[in-house]
Amino acid sequence: MSEVVEYESSENKVNVKRGLEGVVCDVSTVSKVNPETNSLIYKGYPVQDLAENCTFEEVAYLLWHDDLPTASQLKEFEKQERSLREISPALAQVIRSFPKGAHPMDAIRTGVSFVGMEDSDTLTRTPQKDYERAMILLAKIPTILAYDYRTRQMGKEPIAPRKDLRIAENFFHMVFGKVPDPRIVKAFEVSLVLYAEHGFNASTFASRVVTSTTSDLFSAVCGGIGSLKGPLHGGANEQVMHMMKEIGDPAKAREWMIQALADKRKVMGFGHRVYKKGDSRVPTMKKYMAVMSEVTGETKWLKMYEALEQVMIEKKNIHPNLDFPAGPAYHLMGIETEYFTPIFVMSRITGWCAHIFEQIKDNRLIRPLCQYTGSTQRSVKPIAQRT
Ligand code: COA
Repeated sequence: MSEVVEYESSENKVNVKRGLEGVVCDVSTVSKVNPETNSLIYKGYPVQDLAENCTFEEVAYLLWHDDLPTASQLKEFEKQERSLREISPALAQVIRSFPKGAHPMDAIRTGVSFVGMEDSDTLTRTPQKDYERAMILLAKIPTILAYDYRTRQMGKEPIAPRKDLRIAENFFHMVFGKVPDPRIVKAFEVSLVLYAEHGFNASTFASRVVTSTTSDLFSAVCGGIGSLKGPLHGGANEQVMHMMKEIGDPAKAREWMIQALADKRKVMGFGHRVYKKGDSRVPTMKKYMAVMSEVTGETKWLKMYEALEQVMIEKKNIHPNLDFPAGPAYHLMGIETEYFTPIFVMSRITGWCAHIFEQIKDNRLIRPLCQYTGSTQRSVKPIAQRT
């Protein structure tokens, strides 16, 4: 349902675009989402080609530098990122003190906030300084996550990052103590590339709004993380897995979906504000989810995926979004469900920072209006006279 609501008051008549649906509020050179051609390009490159042919680091470089790196540029980029992976003893201590039941998205938001506090000069913003801050977050977010995963989730000692591994490989090393089958690493890395950037989505827009006040980069990223946590945005990849576990058996999927639709339930992992004919990233992620099924020999989730997708398209013509294949793919990699959205943070930090750089370079405060629908003007009565 398109939510353009017309309000008329004594002063004026105004069309209110709820949820900013269809509103173009700035220009950007970072990525183009085209729902008509069902395509997504980062700096001109189709995301499917990037996912198949590039490492996550190459894509991070692309988003921050306008083009893919040469071999020597990539080497330098990787060297810089790898040198920043360790977290401070103070942050390590803070992570150990996180409340037991807290969601890992809150842990990563707090971790990023703490890293920001380790920079005593956050309001001094030059392109170079902001670039260094973005690199710090790209390097440290996986370490914070893995540290949290090991200590709070597993009750084990953390594992230090390695400098000889790519971000994707190093994440598995820090969480599980080993780099898995290359097919698993590839599927994980594909998810990082697909999750990296997506136009003016809610979390990117949130980080641009924070940046537009000329606040600091860490605050903007914290705003992005808070926004991404929501189940209507990044949080959907976790909800997909909870839903699939609730269904339990592919044989029950069809009936479950019919009932969910009859109950007017929002089915997680389906639908999109921009794409109405299908999410450009889904075929690639689905392919790698199928590879995960093959590697693990566990076909249940893929069968459930197929059944749910079929009924949803048949009954409502609503297609899956990236979170639908990404959730079960992560599950098949052996990752705990609560860490799915934090992994999205590990990736989207690249897109957020590309937008933060763009916003601050040619800034204009983001400050829209609202149509007031409250009480007409009235006078304040002293408290004794109020009934
Ligand atoms: N399950 C069931 N129905 C859905 C649906 C879903 N996941 N997504 C959209 N619809 C239906 C709505 O009920 C509505 O039907 P109606 O017109 O009969 O009332 C119609 O499609 C339009 O939905 P609306 O919520 O207005 O679209 P939107 O652009 O605001 O929503 C999302 C986009 C992403 C918020 C929405 O699709 C959703 O909540 N999806 C589930 C969460 C999710 O996967 N989020 C990750 C997005 S990448």
